[in-house]
Amino acid sequence: MISPLSVIILAAGKGTRMQSAKPKVLQTLAGKSLLGHVLDTCHQLTVDETIIVHGFGGDQVKSEITNQYTQASITWVAQTEQLGTGHAVKVTLSDLPKSGQSLILYGDVPLVSCQTLTALKTANTDGMSMLTLTVDNPFGLGRIKRDQAGNIEAIVEQKDANTDEQNIREINSGIYCVDNALLHKYLPGLSNDNAQQEYYLTDIVKMAVADGITIAAIEPEHTFEIEGVNNRQQLASLERTWQRKLVADLQEAGVQFADPSRVDIRGTLTAGQDVFIDVNVVFEGGCTLGDNVYIEAGCVIKNAKIGNACYIKPYCVIDRADIGAGVDIGPFAHLRPDTVLSDNSKVGNFVEIKKSTIGKGSKVNHLSYVGDATVGTGVNIGAGVITCNYDGANKSQTIIGDNAFIGSNASLVAPVKIGDTATVAAGSVITKDVDRSALAFGRARQVQKNDFQRPTKK
Ligand code: UD1
Ligand code: CA
Repeated sequence: MISPLSVIILAAGKGTRMQSAKPKVLQTLAGKSLLGHVLDTCHQLTVDETIIVHGFGGDQVKSEITNQYTQASITWVAQTEQLGTGHAVKVTLSDLPKSGQSLILYGDVPLVSCQTLTALKTANTDGMSMLTLTVDNPFGLGRIKRDQAGNIEAIVEQKDANTDEQNIREINSGIYCVDNALLHKYLPGLSNDNAQQEYYLTDIVKMAVADGITIAAIEPEHTFEIEGVNNRQQLASLERTWQRKLVADLQEAGVQFADPSRVDIRGTLTAGQDVFIDVNVVFEGGCTLGDNVYIEAGCVIKNAKIGNACYIKPYCVIDRADIGAGVDIGPFAHLRPDTVLSDNSKVGNFVEIKKSTIGKGSKVNHLSYVGDATVGTGVNIGAGVITCNYDGANKSQTIIGDNAFIGSNASLVAPVKIGDTATVAAGSVITKDVDRSALAFGRARQVQKNDFQRPTKK
C-alpha cells in the first residue's frame, strides 16, 4: 500500500517588509498568488491532504484561495501567534494522520518544482529528507552541520551559530519530507530555548539523529526553487528569474524573442515553431500560438488561441479570442471576449470586435465596432462601420451574409440581417433587413444649391 502523502504549507507570517495591506502569500508572481503557485505544484503530485497554516490576514487568504481553488480540499489551521516554524507545524498535529509522510512547504517560497518534491519524497527512506543548497552567501539562513562521515547531524540558525558554524555554506531551504509518526513524536517536545525564543522546526533534525535516523539531503535543480519572498525587491527579482525560465523553455521549443528580458508570461503560453515575439508583449492566462505567428511590440494577449502564420501588428489587445490561420490583426485592434476570426480574415487599426464571428477571408480594416455579429465569408466591412447592438437595455444581433459589402460609415441598427452579396451604401443607417444581392441606401439624398455665397464677417 502506498502511504498517504500530506502537504503542510506554512503561511502564517505577516510579511511586514512587503508594506502591504494584503497578506504576503496573496501577492502575485507571474499573475498568480504565491500560495497559488505552491498549491498548483502540489496538485501535480498525488496529495491526499493539503493543510494550510494561516495567521495574519487568514480570512482573506482563506476566502481568496477557496474561491480560486474550488476543486482542492484544503484543511485550514489557524496559528494565532507566530511562535516559530516548529510551532506552526505543531498546530497541524490534530489534523495530521498518524502514518504516512508530509511535505513541509512555505506559502512564500512559490517556485519549488514538482520534480524536486517528487525527488525529496523518494529520498525519504529512513523518516526524513530535506532540500539543502551550497551557496556563496549563506547569511541569515540555517546552516547544515554534518559529522565526520558527512551525515547531517543538526541545523543551526544564523542567530545561534558560532563562528565555525557561520562559515558553513550549505544552507537549509526549510523544505522537508518527514514521516508523520516522527512529527507526532518530536513536535510536542520542542523547546524555545534559543536566541530567538522560537520553536524551531529545524530542531527535529537533531532529535531524529539521536534516534539513529539517517537524514537524506537533495539539492533542487534550480536555486530559485527555494527562494522566498520577504520584500518587493525579492518579489520583482524572483518574477524576472521565473520569466527568464519560461522564456528559455519557449526558446527551446523554437520561439524567437526580440529581447528575452522584455516579455511577460502571466500564465501558460504554448507556442509552435518559428514564432517571433517582439518587445513588451504580455501574455495572460492560457495562450496558444501556432507555427510562424509574428507578434509585434506592445501587444497584450489573454486567454487566446492564435493559429498558424497570424501577423499581429503593434499594440493590439486580445482577450479570449479564437483566431484561425493566416489572420492579420492591428495595429491598435481590440478583440474582446468571444471573438472568433476565421482563417485569412483581417482586422485593421482602431477596430473593436466583441462576441462576434468573422468568416473566412472577411475584412474589417479601419475604425469599426463589430459587436454581437455573425459575419459570413468574403465580406468587406468599410471604414467606420458600426453595429448598433445596444438600445440602452438589450443587446441585439447583426447577421451579415457571405460576400456582402458594407460601405464606409454605415450604421447597422440591430437586430438586422444583410443578405449574401448584398451591398450597403456608404453612410447608410440600416434599420431593416437587406435582401440577398440587393443594394440598400439609408441616407438623405444629396441636395445641391448652385452659386452658393458663404456668409462674410460683419
Ligand atoms: C527558516 C529555517 C531556516 C531556513 C529558512 C529558509 C527554522 C527555525 N529556520 O528560517 O533554517 O534556512 O527558513 O528560508 O525553521 N511561519 C509560520 N509561523 C511561524 C513562523 C514562520 O507560518 O510561527 C512561516 C512563515 O510565514 C514563512 C516560513 O514559515 O513562510 C518561514 O519562516 P521564517 O521566519 O521566514 O523562517 P526563518 O526563521 O527565516
Ligand atoms: Ca525567511
